[in-house]
Amino acid sequence: MAHTRLDRYERLYSHRTGSLRSSAMRDLMAVTSRPEVISLAGGLPDTRAFPPDLLGELLQEVASEHGPRALQYGPTEGLHELRQALADHMARLGMVVGAGELIVTTGGQQAIDLVCRVLLDPGDPILAEGPTYPGAVPVFSACGADVHHVAMDEDGLRIDALTAAHDALVAEGRPPKLLYVIPTFHNPAGVTLSLERRRALVAFAQDRDLLILEDDPYSTLRFEGEPLPSLRSLDATGRVVYLGTLSKIFSPGIRVGWIHAPHPILHRVNLSKQGADLCSSPLAQLLGLAFLEHERFGEVVGRMNRLYAARRDAMVEALAEALPDATHVVPQGGLFLWATLANGLDTTDLLAAALERDVAFVPGAAAYLDGVSGRSSLRLNFSAMDEERIVEGIRRIGGVVRERAALAHALTPRARRTTGEG
Ligand SMILES: Cc1ncc(COP(=O)(O)O)c(C=O)c1O
Repeated sequence: MAHTRLDRYERLYSHRTGSLRSSAMRDLMAVTSRPEVISLAGGLPDTRAFPPDLLGELLQEVASEHGPRALQYGPTEGLHELRQALADHMARLGMVVGAGELIVTTGGQQAIDLVCRVLLDPGDPILAEGPTYPGAVPVFSACGADVHHVAMDEDGLRIDALTAAHDALVAEGRPPKLLYVIPTFHNPAGVTLSLERRRALVAFAQDRDLLILEDDPYSTLRFEGEPLPSLRSLDATGRVVYLGTLSKIFSPGIRVGWIHAPHPILHRVNLSKQGADLCSSPLAQLLGLAFLEHERFGEVVGRMNRLYAARRDAMVEALAEALPDATHVVPQGGLFLWATLANGLDTTDLLAAALERDVAFVPGAAAYLDGVSGRSSLRLNFSAMDEERIVEGIRRIGGVVRERAALAHALTPRARRTTGEG
């Protein structure tokens, strides 16, 4: 067989890895790490903006006060003080939960992975926004989940589309196991679920007995507007599992996230995590704890928000100039803007040309599992580059789009153009 010749280990692989799909972002990171590349592709917070003196102080505190613990294994569910600090953090976001109701994970990514491992069998139907977090795509495909995307608009997930998708699956006798959502400063769509829809979504979940997986890495990164209640804070019936992470407010390098879930689910997550990595790094947990409890926490997050808001503004302005026909929602926080081209060009094809000009973005198709949707859209990150590079990056993307559009126009037969056919 052709496969055997290409890969002599083929017969050894599990079915699970046969369905694996790479995350477009991780693939791109290999290319975009060259310093000359203006990468609007990653989801990287600007770790250069974290005060070095504060990092030194935090590291010193962990070393001098917790050295032996930091170097030791820890409990699978996480260090108790950190779980308490995370429960306090959630209380500031309007959620009253006990430290015992959450488990520390190795980043928010492991949180998604563990919950999916605990809940999903191959073929299980689930619902997710369309577009969805590109990093969740390999998790869903590894589980063999049958993902049904639910359309969004400028107010987030559309409840009418959710109802239709749910009804259709129920009619097939396959009610969805869960709905995965990023209600606030969505990655990649940049939109935020309105208050009215949050209430409607929770009521829907309660009515239909649907489990919601609320992924919330970004709500603390708000540049303007009033904070909105999380879905978890609106539900007291155990229908919402909440995922958090310190990646975007402190550091993705420490890999600290968490899951808050009803006890029976948390118990299975714990068993799954024992097999995955025994425990998350206690050194990293203590560092995260030191930051959460530091008096400069609010100051640092506030500074980051001002920095990212200015970069978002620069990107919005640059888009108006370089891609005036593209549509997008101006995000009120988070790290991403999702632009849709008016001319129907395929952004996966555009990416190769963009990389030749040393600029990168995530093509929209990476945010869907069907390989078809999102082809005219691109995800643009505004946190990792300074304003000058953002403006230059958008200018280069605009140049590539114009060139490709002109080429497509030239190649379209005149008759088809004038009749408007196609
Ligand atoms: C929606 C969403 N969930 C989870 C993650 C994973 O974050 P972490 O670095 O904590 O693993 C990200 C990172 O970009 C994200 O955007």
